[in-house]
Amino acid sequence: MNENHRQHPGQGARSLSERADELEHRMIDELEQRIVKSVLFVSGDKDPRTMNQPPPPGSKPDRRKFLMGDDPRLPKMPETPTLLDFFRNRFGSPNHVLQSATHALKGGHDEKTVLACLLHDIAVAGFIRADHGYWGAQLIAPYVDEEVSWAIRYHQALRFFPDEAAGYTYPEAYIRYFGPDYQVEDYVRADYEYARNHKWYMTSRLITLNDIYSFDPNAKVSWDPFMDIIGRHFKQPKEGLGFDGSPVAHMWRTIIWPTKFL
Ligand SMILES: [Fe+2]
Ligand SMILES: [Fe+2]
Repeated sequence: MNENHRQHPGQGARSLSERADELEHRMIDELEQRIVKSVLFVSGDKDPRTMNQPPPPGSKPDRRKFLMGDDPRLPKMPETPTLLDFFRNRFGSPNHVLQSATHALKGGHDEKTVLACLLHDIAVAGFIRADHGYWGAQLIAPYVDEEVSWAIRYHQALRFFPDEAAGYTYPEAYIRYFGPDYQVEDYVRADYEYARNHKWYMTSRLITLNDIYSFDPNAKVSWDPFMDIIGRHFKQPKEGLGFDGSPVAHMWRTIIWPTKFL
């Protein structure tokens, strides 16, 4: 039996994940403010219907204030955050998208396509994985050419459909990830059918083409080749992302303050 799974005295039959949960709760309990996770953060690990139960009778009431701003466990964001501030302080490793964009640049594609490759997975990196193409497209729509956000939205569907003429075969990795019998949902197929006849189809297809080769964790990548492209094609709001009153400002604010109580 693995040491991690061995039962220690006093630990009863609690699983590793229960113990990790308990440790996390203890860490959160030691903070000055009460941090309550959004349902979406834990839905599945927990059944949302069982959350927010009243405390067990006799337990000590928690009199701390609820967190309504910066989470002390995260780096503080600047007052007027830029796209790169989010990459630095709130997103996971940019390695994959930098590799994608580097491929696109070396392939001689136009700057809009390079930017689309650079931003295609920001929802996975910093927001929500499920339907990440749609979320990512929405996050950037007010700040980029419509073709860029369109391409990101539809790469979600296109990556499941080969286009041999364009050089895109169904990724080997997807057979490992999802099994040989995996079938996409109807809404994904419908969006693919729509996208393949669209004038911007190839921009979205190029995201998938530059995407699948970009998972080498040791690849040497840099932001340098992309700084001017971001400057030219990403309309950074002067008030900062999250504070410009755009239809998606609240989404950027939620990334800044993911544990704000309300
Ligand atoms: Fe993606
Ligand atoms: Fe990707």
